[in-house]
Amino acid sequence: MEQATTNAKHDEPNTKQKTENGFVQTGQPNDAMKVITVMTRKGGAGKTTLVQALISAALKDGKRILALDADPQQGLHRWLKPLSEAEPLIISRQLEYAADLERWTEEAYEAGSVDLVFVDTQGAAGEWADELAAHSDFLVVPMKMADKDLSITTDTFNWYVGLRERVDDPDLLPTLRILMADVPRDMNATQKKIEMLAIERFPVMNNYFMHRKQHLDADTNGFLHVQAEEKRTGRFGLGRTHAKHFDEAVEEALDILAEITGDE
Ligand SMILES: Nc1ncnc2c1ncn2[C@@H]1O[C@H](COP(=O)(O)OP(=O)(O)O)[C@@H](O)[C@H]1O
Ligand SMILES: [Mg+2]
Repeated sequence: MEQATTNAKHDEPNTKQKTENGFVQTGQPNDAMKVITVMTRKGGAGKTTLVQALISAALKDGKRILALDADPQQGLHRWLKPLSEAEPLIISRQLEYAADLERWTEEAYEAGSVDLVFVDTQGAAGEWADELAAHSDFLVVPMKMADKDLSITTDTFNWYVGLRERVDDPDLLPTLRILMADVPRDMNATQKKIEMLAIERFPVMNNYFMHRKQHLDADTNGFLHVQAEEKRTGRFGLGRTHAKHFDEAVEEALDILAEITGDE
């Protein structure tokens, strides 16, 4: 009896047991978990920058995150790996095979300790895209305001339209939305024209992902919200002005995230 009691106490951290891939077991699946996949056939469209910003915003919001990098170049994972070591809310992994997404999301869902899964992808077409779409809740396609981006976004959008026709039950597919990305504060006439055409052709999100140099800074130095905090508590008066810009970038990403998941 004595022994059993001791064991029971000792076993208490059992609730903290982890799954094969390192998710904390809560004992209850998380029905609210959402899988957000960022994709476009266009390279350099702002996919990785967007995922980085969304992750910073979600972390600031206290969300538990699984970040999966399906791009062989591993830009996201390279950035996130050292950062995630000091951040218990986030797990970063490479997603070598698109077919693994189902297994990963299933495991995270069952463990119940992940709120948001972000999947970053490569700027190319491939059958892997069908596979990722099949196991995502939302597809986000960032598009910069240039002619080439408009034309390649059209290809990506047509892929999605074709996919809806190919599958048995299109209602099971994630929604796909276009996000205007790297948008300059003052658009020139050409950019305005591209914006207009995009709105005519695609389901464009209300929120835009604006061009901000804070994203370049975050790419070098780490999470946006941590940069903001460091600037705020820094010794120099100017730091507070800088912090404000990082705060704004986080706010923008939070708005985008809310629009993606429909939590506005
Ligand atoms: N919102 C933004 N503000 C500033 N720079 C951006 C923004 N979005 C993208 N960029 C820049 O555009 C380039 C390509 O972005 P990246 O995220 O690497 O694209 P992708 O992952 O689609 O290949 C990078 O130099 C990045 O810093
Ligand atoms: Mg990328």
